[in-house]
Amino acid sequence: MANKERFSDKMEFPPEIAQPNIYPLSWHVKTRKLQEVWEASLREYWQPEKLPWDTLDVDSYSWEERESIAYWWTLLSVFDASAPPVFAAALIKTYEIHEEDPVRKCFFSVTSDEQNHEIMCGMSITKLLGHPDPLTYEPKTDIGRRLQKNAKWLYFNGSRYWNGYKQAVPKYDLAVLFSSFLMGEIASATIFKQMHDNAREPLFKEAFKNIGRDEGRHMAICMAVMERDYPGLSDEHRSTVTKQIRAGYLFLSGVLFEPPMEFWDLPQDFIANQREGEEIARNAGFGIPTYDAKRENWRNAIINLKGVLDHYNIPFPAIPEVDITGEEVSDVSMQDIIPVF
Ligand SMILES: [Fe+2]
Ligand SMILES: [Fe+2]
Repeated sequence: MANKERFSDKMEFPPEIAQPNIYPLSWHVKTRKLQEVWEASLREYWQPEKLPWDTLDVDSYSWEERESIAYWWTLLSVFDASAPPVFAAALIKTYEIHEEDPVRKCFFSVTSDEQNHEIMCGMSITKLLGHPDPLTYEPKTDIGRRLQKNAKWLYFNGSRYWNGYKQAVPKYDLAVLFSSFLMGEIASATIFKQMHDNAREPLFKEAFKNIGRDEGRHMAICMAVMERDYPGLSDEHRSTVTKQIRAGYLFLSGVLFEPPMEFWDLPQDFIANQREGEEIARNAGFGIPTYDAKRENWRNAIINLKGVLDHYNIPFPAIPEVDITGEEVSDVSMQDIIPVF
């Protein structure tokens, strides 16, 4: 045992502790706004299990409809089911780097909120399919079979991002990580608002309202930390942020728009199957926005983000897919992704 060296009999006070170290034995409060968001998160806490599940009569839907709606929840969970560990890793980082107390609390709340979102996905899928796992479920219809193939490919793509993320967390400053988080939060706050407005089923309406409110808080957290850290951002960090925004667009388009094929590794018939499933779900009163509405909303979310980054003089990437000009960013792969939902 190399580390058996005793210090206490040689010196009055213990030696310096090597950093980073998981213990911040301090509770500094610099950013008041974050304390407010933390308190709001406690006030607005909700439990997926306590939603009015007895009002959802799955037998009033056809199997095509059930499988199509479950597919959308599966698509969402490809993003949301990664969020609890993603934010838990970021939470550990906030302790390691001895972030101020309200930052630690906010990350704790995001981790907990994201787990709720993932629980909601799981409960919806389980109820609609009568099976707790959309990948081992036995589809009952032709569209159900094709959507399950889609789900398997989405899951495969999503799984490739975790190793990159784990390497990115220690490598980047929290300020850089935040720009990527913000991308996801702006986008998700947008989509859940739409889903809420268009959903017919009271259970889903209520869930989307709660999830959208959570995402709004996550957005506020990102903005507050950016306001604190971005004025002093180095040029190197600025260009990393630009690249991450482009990466975020490619990654998050998978759920907010349509997955760009140069980035997502998906079969030829993927988009057609997804559009067909979404049409069935939409006609059954499940509020998935149309292609044009998605494009419009995604574009608006990106323009909002651009406004935020312009404020800090951070070059914005070109996103020609939604008619946004800017700095050319190429060669983005799943391994480069930090954005989360
Ligand atoms: Fe979420
Ligand atoms: Fe979120």
